[in-house]
Amino acid sequence: MKPDTLLATARAARLRAYAPYSRFLVGAALLTDGGAVVTGANVENASYGMTACAERTAIWTAIHAGYRKFKSIAVIADCSPPPTPCGACRQVLWELAGNIEVVMGNLKGETKNSSLLDLLPQPFGSAIWSDNPVNQEMFKSEQIWRIPVSFHPIGYVLNDYQAPLSIPDNYKELLSQVVIDPDMEKGLYRLDEEEKINVISYLHEARGYTLKDKRSGRGNEVYGVFVCRAPLRPNAIAQSTVELVDIKKNILTVKGLDLINGTPVLDIKTDYR
Ligand code: THU
Repeated sequence: MKPDTLLATARAARLRAYAPYSRFLVGAALLTDGGAVVTGANVENASYGMTACAERTAIWTAIHAGYRKFKSIAVIADCSPPPTPCGACRQVLWELAGNIEVVMGNLKGETKNSSLLDLLPQPFGSAIWSDNPVNQEMFKSEQIWRIPVSFHPIGYVLNDYQAPLSIPDNYKELLSQVVIDPDMEKGLYRLDEEEKINVISYLHEARGYTLKDKRSGRGNEVYGVFVCRAPLRPNAIAQSTVELVDIKKNILTVKGLDLINGTPVLDIKTDYR
């Protein structure tokens, strides 16, 4: 992944900061050795010292999601020159991520690059008193399947439907576009041979869920949520089968998409033949 893409991800994460006191929003995006990206933003507290920076939010989230090896971190804020990680974050990153690349940016597009050891020379670490590796087995849970999983969208929906209830009745006849991240364009190779594709997406406007609900087209009869296409489900994931009309570079034109403008797309899949 290019540093610019990592910074763009941090920039999006920045908008989810909770910073009512400083109003200084910071975003971070951490790249794992396997290519996954985990984000963070600063989360403040009325007891100011309890505030967590964007970088620590990101690394703690990543560690808890099971990642242990990292390549780089991008940090972004609205300041010039771009923000450098604070001392506490440098110390925490050193222990949990080692000598990663640090990409710093601002909203004007200015960037700076350093290695963590450049930012934290002569670091303090547990190697000083012990070289026993931490027993990772200790952390393995018998119910590991319960951990939250995070995805990073591969693109988004572009059309005129602005709200979940604004999808026109005749959507099956209408065209939408699916814009794929230009970095992933190669993954579309030979998709043009398909007539129908499945768009897997995240219903970002859905809030909460019910386990039983009415099923569309079946009157007042009640069904379990896993028997329905209802958006209010434990994981707000949608699957839409659409006609593929056209592909130009990273932009797909499809017919029959039932998703609103801006919906993050998680995956595109074809069917077995
Ligand atoms: N902050 C970060 O998120 N990262 C840094 O590297 C420096 C500071 C946040 C913490 C606080 O919410 C706000 O910026 C002002 O200090």
